[in-house]
Amino acid sequence: MIPELSNPSVCMRDPQRVQEILQSMVKAGSNTVQVISDFDMTLTRFAYNGKRCPTCHNILDNSNLISTDCKIELKELLNTYYPIEIDSSRSVEEKLPLMVEWWTKAHKLLVQQKIRKDLLAMVVQESDAMLREGYKLLFDHLYEHSIPLLIFSAGIGDILEEVIRQAGVFHPNVKVFSNYMDFDESGELRAFKGELIHIYNKREGALLNTGHFQELRTRPNVLLLGDSLGDLTMADGVQDMENILKIGFLNDKVEERKQSYLDSYDIVLLKDETLEVPNAIMLYLTGNN
Ligand code: TMP
Ligand code: MG
Repeated sequence: MIPELSNPSVCMRDPQRVQEILQSMVKAGSNTVQVISDFDMTLTRFAYNGKRCPTCHNILDNSNLISTDCKIELKELLNTYYPIEIDSSRSVEEKLPLMVEWWTKAHKLLVQQKIRKDLLAMVVQESDAMLREGYKLLFDHLYEHSIPLLIFSAGIGDILEEVIRQAGVFHPNVKVFSNYMDFDESGELRAFKGELIHIYNKREGALLNTGHFQELRTRPNVLLLGDSLGDLTMADGVQDMENILKIGFLNDKVEERKQSYLDSYDIVLLKDETLEVPNAIMLYLTGNN
């Protein structure tokens, strides 16, 4: 067994099953593996020194590109809808239209701010965005071993790309599905492109991108990283899947949500701000353990 799976943050419903999946994947070889990961609160930290870290949306919300009035409105949206996002007493069916409402209202407010494309790099630079500890090993090792990494995010693609670019890990094996900004000729935000990706429609997003999964059809073994139950459908577009190992970060409302996470993720990481466990698994799969 991988020693890191005995870390105090690790919970598993069925450790034997995890072991079987890992063995089957290692036997198939790392050239049959692909990684699919959420971004906000999965690749990025949830908190640092007791303070919450920003999501892609929060990076913009907190910046000086947004007027004070708009900041207040965005904060109100966050205070209204985030508790719904993490409410374990409501079903996905109940939450889904409310999440669409959150994203739609937030994007409308952002578009009204006429955000300039050329200022995004500075906004990210000045933000408190933080990738989880161990991110460099994860990104660099996947690149060195030519393992594709799909970052599948309901955040904002332009911001997300800038975070990983500035961290020096936006390697050619990284592909991003997210909400991208649409700028006019003068470089001002006028809309968001394509179909909206929110927290509960990643399955639909995956099925719209058959071309990507077709290209990766020789990689039927999937390592999935997420922090929300909505992230579990990110691999629904994978063709002829053989094995999937789902790793879930449980960041908030741990006691209330633990059982539902254990029921759906193979490995649940409780308040773990590091990528130590995913990294140990990746090293195991590539024979570097
Ligand atoms: P994801 O991590 O599943 O890709 O989802 C993106 C996160 O963005 C989700 O946890 C909610 C958060 N969010 C904000 O922080 N502010 C917003 O305005 C919106 C629409 C989402
Ligand atoms: Mg997330």
